[in-house]
Amino acid sequence: MKFTEPAGPTPLDQERVLTRPHPRKEGPLKVTGQATYAYEYRDAALRDAAYGFVLGSDIAHGSLLDIDTAEAEAAPGVQLVLTHKNMPAQGENPGVAPQQDDATPQLAGTAIHHHDQAIALVVADTFEQARAAARLIRVRYRRLDGAYDLAAQLGQAEPTSDSEDSVVGDFDRAFGSAPVRVDVTYTTPDQSQAPMEPHSSLAHWEGDRLTLYTSHQILHWVHRGLAKTLQVPQKDIRIVSAYVGGGFGSKLLFYADAVLAAAAARQLGRPVKVMLTRHQIFNHTSHRPATVQRLRLGAEKSGRLVAVGHDSFSGNLPGGDAETAADQTKLLYAGEHRLIRTRLAELGLPPGASMRAPGEGAGMLALECAVDELAEALDMDPVELRILNDVQYDPEKGPGRPYSSRRLVEALTVGAERFGWKERRRPGERREGDWLVGLGVASAFRGNLVQKSGARVRLEQDGTLTVETQMTDIGTGSYTILGQVAAEMLGLTLEQVTVRLGDTDFPRAAGSGGSFGANSSSSGVYYACRDLRTAIAKKLGFDPNTAVFEEGYVRDGQGGKRAALRGLAGKGGLSATGEASFGDLTERYVQASFGAHFAEVAVDVVTGETRVRRLLSVAAAGRILNPVTARSQCLGGMTMGIGAALMEELKVDTGRGLFVNHDLAEYHVPVHADIPDLDVIFLDELDDKSSPVKAKGIGELGICGVGAAVANAVYNATGVRVRDYPLTMEKIL
Ligand code: MOS
Repeated sequence: MKFTEPAGPTPLDQERVLTRPHPRKEGPLKVTGQATYAYEYRDAALRDAAYGFVLGSDIAHGSLLDIDTAEAEAAPGVQLVLTHKNMPAQGENPGVAPQQDDATPQLAGTAIHHHDQAIALVVADTFEQARAAARLIRVRYRRLDGAYDLAAQLGQAEPTSDSEDSVVGDFDRAFGSAPVRVDVTYTTPDQSQAPMEPHSSLAHWEGDRLTLYTSHQILHWVHRGLAKTLQVPQKDIRIVSAYVGGGFGSKLLFYADAVLAAAAARQLGRPVKVMLTRHQIFNHTSHRPATVQRLRLGAEKSGRLVAVGHDSFSGNLPGGDAETAADQTKLLYAGEHRLIRTRLAELGLPPGASMRAPGEGAGMLALECAVDELAEALDMDPVELRILNDVQYDPEKGPGRPYSSRRLVEALTVGAERFGWKERRRPGERREGDWLVGLGVASAFRGNLVQKSGARVRLEQDGTLTVETQMTDIGTGSYTILGQVAAEMLGLTLEQVTVRLGDTDFPRAAGSGGSFGANSSSSGVYYACRDLRTAIAKKLGFDPNTAVFEEGYVRDGQGGKRAALRGLAGKGGLSATGEASFGDLTERYVQASFGAHFAEVAVDVVTGETRVRRLLSVAAAGRILNPVTARSQCLGGMTMGIGAALMEELKVDTGRGLFVNHDLAEYHVPVHADIPDLDVIFLDELDDKSSPVKAKGIGELGICGVGAAVANAVYNATGVRVRDYPLTMEKIL
């Protein structure tokens, strides 16, 4: 069903099960070890799976002169060593960077494009044997110089189709003549998604048919991409990702574990499983690319923005995307004269790709600090400045393209009130012993995306319901919210609904990415349930439009007759399949989720150590399908935002072209001791233009702007403005 007009009333509006704080359905399975992750399947046919170990390149750029596997092949337990010499034919990658749904071959030749590119797979009876044998492979390289330093490549950066230039009015003149101006350059570092569950795949062939258990966010992408890579028809591949131990974008693409497990299992006629090591995740898989961002904001003395300029630079391997860090600046604030540009340079670092809120995640770190700097230059309260420059339509296109819903002003106002914003003082004025204390604010903004998504629902003979969809649950709550949607539609309890996810045998679905997962996949389930309601009503001779589904019964809206759902379906159940697709409402209306973040930090005057003391996020993201799972998403985003502000940074070895801190001991993410009192407030909102479910994306909103709120609080505490993230102590002192 195509969603083309704003949604009217639906049975979901009853909110008997939906919007209730149900804990995660699969939670007990996970904490008791009963949820099966890709690497863990032990069915009879998989029990003798061999273990693959990936060997990565020691150089970042150049080629393999020779790779000698003789000793490894003779090592105990070794079954197979794959290199470019014996790898079967694969589809070609149109670029170099991994593709989301196009061929991403591995061991495809002698050319080396990045550090830890796979150069061999050793398969043995045990993991230890495979790992030990991999050390016996002798490699000779031809090392070439590469470009690994973004700062040095800015002059080479080019326009990119990933983001069109926004040129409105006469920016140069307006900025040049604006009475109050800031012209500041911020940098954000490369960051790693660092999911808990490493990328892993278990491949099993039965004849020409492959089943791949893997850890992935969007199954139809890896399905198509793997088919093209292996040159196997898509119908002969089944992908299973029933549980995914975190993604944050790093499992949107597919890597050596998937391709090489499949290739090796086929060659050996035996299941093969491959898990990347923690080290390999950092340099073999993707990361959030570093950015250099110049912000130029010009305002009248009143604070009204007249010139909005943002130039963002990032780098990537050929065929890789730009970090679209300037995109939110096209939409967030008013201003008649605008110049917003994204440029991409070629870099030989490991592939850059999506990490939680690609674009805004890095962009808001710069924009929301620049706005704070403008407020300072205007001697104006930064909350007031943001409210003054609110705009209810696309500022580039004009009032003809309004927002579907936008509650930024309320988020700022409610947050300021709840946080005690009026206690904020001038920079450096609040001191408690050795601690300087400050408050900071930032807006939250994340574009609302929607994706086609299907589902199958089946009324079982016993009156329960089964939902099946390719949608994944990456720890976000999909199992729970899809159960809630279906329960609401059929008048059942959440316990009466079984949700099965993450299998390409089920209808194709949005998957988990870009904050579109919950809204899009719920819409697919909604349409499937609507069709099932019609089928049930027709079977009973009831009018489908007025039939009422409640407490396990269907009531005829006309005659008052009633029938139990239990026993209604035959042995095979009664099924309906639905799919949500989306028309041009995303064109007619700008769609985004909004919010505001408020941070209190204390900075030690002796050491420069920053502690976040309090963090409050207010979020307006359409209907909150489940306040428990939505809140968890916000808390996770806020935690990552603190990491982005204060500690997360992949350190580039600009000579050798790799990330040197490639483990969780040296790549610092916040731990419990770093996370204080976090609070989340949801504003009531129904967005009838986003989807029939009236929700918007929330998964990434929580990270967008948090780091800037923390950085602004550090400035308010100390009077020191640090423009290079993360704000580590030596930069503050
Ligand atoms: Mo998200 S970065 O699209 O998983």
